[in-house]
Amino acid sequence: MKIKSSEFIISAVKQSQYPTDGLPEIALAGRSNVGKSSLINMLVNRKKLARTSSAPGKTQTINFYKINNEFHLVDLPGYGFAKVSKKNKEEWGRIIEEYLTSRENLIEVLQLVDIRHKPTQQDKQMYNWIKYFGYKGIVVATKLDKLKRSQRQKNINTIRKELEMNQDDILVPISSMNREGKEVLWEAICKVFIEKGLNITIEEAAEI
Ligand code: GTP
Ligand code: MG
Repeated sequence: MKIKSSEFIISAVKQSQYPTDGLPEIALAGRSNVGKSSLINMLVNRKKLARTSSAPGKTQTINFYKINNEFHLVDLPGYGFAKVSKKNKEEWGRIIEEYLTSRENLIEVLQLVDIRHKPTQQDKQMYNWIKYFGYKGIVVATKLDKLKRSQRQKNINTIRKELEMNQDDILVPISSMNREGKEVLWEAICKVFIEKGLNITIEEAAEI
């Protein structure tokens, strides 16, 4: 994917604040600290477009980013952060549910899980939710650089099994640190655009 432009549009906590330009959206869901914001930055070759933090719970709103003036990447608030209050957890549920159930231009959801760990109960719930709402649910296994090469297949198998993924469900291992997996994920996203009949420019940037 050739990135010509990427810009932050808005932070939203309710429907009335979502962008109204009608562009198709790809959202990123996952546990707090799994690497959603880092992945957005890596995908669009920017260091600080999406705010990242080593302290979990950084992104607590839905953040919309416009890419190439053609589509949005949507950073959803992370779940599973133990230190947030019950009230905040309920608020998180409301924000996500409202978005997933109402957003007509949402075409796909990327479910991020940490490649080092077994998916949590909430990861499973989220994945089931995504499927329930009719999305493929592309699973992105993050922080690949932190795992020994010899452990990769074993951990991928565990994630597939725990999430009860089918053979044709997609799992992309990725590192936002060293960019491994980037082109594979863009290809999976571009495939979604094509399947939806969207005319989105997907020419490759020349690799040097
Ligand atoms: P919330 O906003 O709290 O939901 O978190 P998030 O999912 O957006 O995570 P974020 O991108 O802020 O990353 C959390 C931490 O993980 C940061 O310290 C990142 O530098 C680190 N991180 C993210 N992706 C990777 C990766 O691929 N490899 C390594 N080594 N670290 C990563
Ligand atoms: Mg974040």
